[in-house]
Amino acid sequence: MTSFNFRMDGGVAIITGAGSGIGQAIAVGIAESGGKVGLFDLPSSDLEGTLRMVEAAGSTGMIVSGDVTQAAELTDAVDRIESMFGPLTHAVNSAGVADAAPAEDMSQEQWQRIYDIDVTGVFLSCQAEGRAMIRGGGGAIVNIASMSGTMAHRGLQQVHYNSAKSAVKHLSTSLAVEWAPHNIRVNSLSPGYTLTAMNRRPEVATQVSAFAAETPMNRLAEPAEMAGPAVFLLSSAASYCTGTDLLIDGGYTSW
Ligand SMILES: NC(=O)c1ccc[n+]([C@@H]2O[C@H](COP(=O)([O-])OP(=O)(O)OC[C@H]3O[C@@H](n4cnc5c(N)ncnc54)[C@H](O)[C@@H]3O)[C@@H](O)[C@H]2O)c1
Repeated sequence: MTSFNFRMDGGVAIITGAGSGIGQAIAVGIAESGGKVGLFDLPSSDLEGTLRMVEAAGSTGMIVSGDVTQAAELTDAVDRIESMFGPLTHAVNSAGVADAAPAEDMSQEQWQRIYDIDVTGVFLSCQAEGRAMIRGGGGAIVNIASMSGTMAHRGLQQVHYNSAKSAVKHLSTSLAVEWAPHNIRVNSLSPGYTLTAMNRRPEVATQVSAFAAETPMNRLAEPAEMAGPAVFLLSSAASYCTGTDLLIDGGYTSW
């Protein structure tokens, strides 16, 4: 007889990038599944809006604003969440940025900014979360990578972003192996094109309809469509799932 549970009742989560897009939708998904959520993002983001949605979903949240490139701010956020809600059990690292430029013209600063936020930021987030989970006896982490970590886009010049997302996938696999003895599962989730602020960037404005046409499902994802897969990976229904990448792309990489 099988027995599985997709609920997160009693869970305490931190979500980075919770003030917009995919991170916001996943925070609401965790709240709907019964988890308490610490909402981490830059102060300029819409964390207040996310908190209102979390409360409307019947759960409890708290805002812990900060920058994922600053290790001390992440540690402080985890400490504050644990003081308020108890031991951290779940984490989703969704904070990220994207831009584009031809590789031959890309400045080192542009390359480095993507790596600082999208790779080092994810590692520092995992480090702060992992330390807490080791103390607490275990947990589950989901890092938001991208299908861009698996393929390269026709017409979208983002060698820095694509390679950074590949790094997110493999740092997740590496941490899964390293932290399995601590009862911590680490997976990545790779969205395809999703309708968030990131796809309202000037560089992609004219390409969004082409993105839909190139996708077998003939549309972009809604941010909320990433919440179910993330909650699955966090929940005990995924208890034997670690070190893997879950690609949610409407079939984009299938043809
Ligand atoms: N939208 C897509 O099509 C798509 C596809 C694949 C992967 N992704 C990934 O999903 C994640 C979320 O992207 P999104 O589409 O929701 O974008 P978004 O711009 O809506 O949200 C990203 C959030 O990250 C936050 N952030 C940026 N830099 C930060 C920093 N230094 N510290 C803390 N927070 C910071 C932003 O303030 C913002 O709230 C990113 O990692 C992105 O690379 C997005």
